[in-house]
Amino acid sequence: MSPFAVTRTLPEDATGAALRADVLEGLSGSPRTLPPKWFYDAHGSELFERITTLPEYYPTRAEREILLARSGEIAAASGARTLVELGSGSSEKTRYLIDALTGLRTYVPVDVSESALTRAGQALVAERPGLDVHALIADFTAPLTLPGTPGPRLVAFLGGTIGNLLPAERAAFLASVRGLLAPGDALLLGTDLVKDERVLVRAYDDAAGVTAAFNKNVLTVINRELGADFDPAAFDHVALWDAGQEWIEMRLRSRLAQTVKVPALDLAVDFAAGEELRTEVSAKFRKEGVRAELEAAGLEPARWWTDDAGRFALSLSVVR
Ligand code: SAH
Ligand code: AVI
Repeated sequence: MSPFAVTRTLPEDATGAALRADVLEGLSGSPRTLPPKWFYDAHGSELFERITTLPEYYPTRAEREILLARSGEIAAASGARTLVELGSGSSEKTRYLIDALTGLRTYVPVDVSESALTRAGQALVAERPGLDVHALIADFTAPLTLPGTPGPRLVAFLGGTIGNLLPAERAAFLASVRGLLAPGDALLLGTDLVKDERVLVRAYDDAAGVTAAFNKNVLTVINRELGADFDPAAFDHVALWDAGQEWIEMRLRSRLAQTVKVPALDLAVDFAAGEELRTEVSAKFRKEGVRAELEAAGLEPARWWTDDAGRFALSLSVVR
């Protein structure tokens, strides 16, 4: 095998079919919603990388701090020969794990963003001779078939991306991850933690407007892929904390009464002035809640680490 292979696990058109189904369902319903995975075309992936460098967006720095301090312990506990990473994006923080896992042979980054996977994979094979990189373009909420590389496997799901799934989706997702693991394998899960509302809201409504551009990018994706006529300037970026659900919601609020056409779906969507479209939830967690969700999926969290300021956590569950 060449040291860098990219596999598309779905037929090319399946992505288009999934987008059409999601947009039809999400824009026809009330309240209107869109799933966050459609943010990440090449431009959306770039905008996310810019978000990770913003002064207000602490999760990436906090998780990097934990990985820097704990990758040795994680590696010793897992002894992985294959590292699978779900929603790998730039794979930037993953380098701490890759360097610590001395017996690592294969890295399997899994992402819907082909551009992010290709960039990250090419950089990694150039930096780490001897590491096989087998990238999978796939939706991690759908059943996954992993390459038959040697175990033990460490499955990493970093960044707090699990918080972008709704509670029922998280339960189904964790159960399917558990199904990928054999005895001796492990799951490393990054979860952002509940904290002061002002800190949270600022992280999703930065002064430079990068998160607003990221949020509106989903409209540009739908315009390009489905021929829609969304005017991103006709929507305002909204980030709010839902204290009951303990999640941040990103929304797009229509600045005026308007009708948006989506020709590929033969759909016309009327937005009232001030009407909101939910584009993402980003759940924030507490230790006991993470434990309960892992246990419900048949996983046993053995280790729990936070950054010094207690903003973000990594948990490690090893399968017996
Ligand atoms: N893990 C990286 C990137 C987080 S951004 C970090 O911690 O910085 C979330 C990543 O998950 C993006 O690269 C996005 O393309 C990917 N993603 C989002 N939804 C996905 C899905 N349903 N299936 C696969 N990848 C997804
Ligand atoms: C990828 N995910 C964990 C990010 C988050 O913080 O929920 C996506 C994001 N949305 C707005 N800013 C960043």
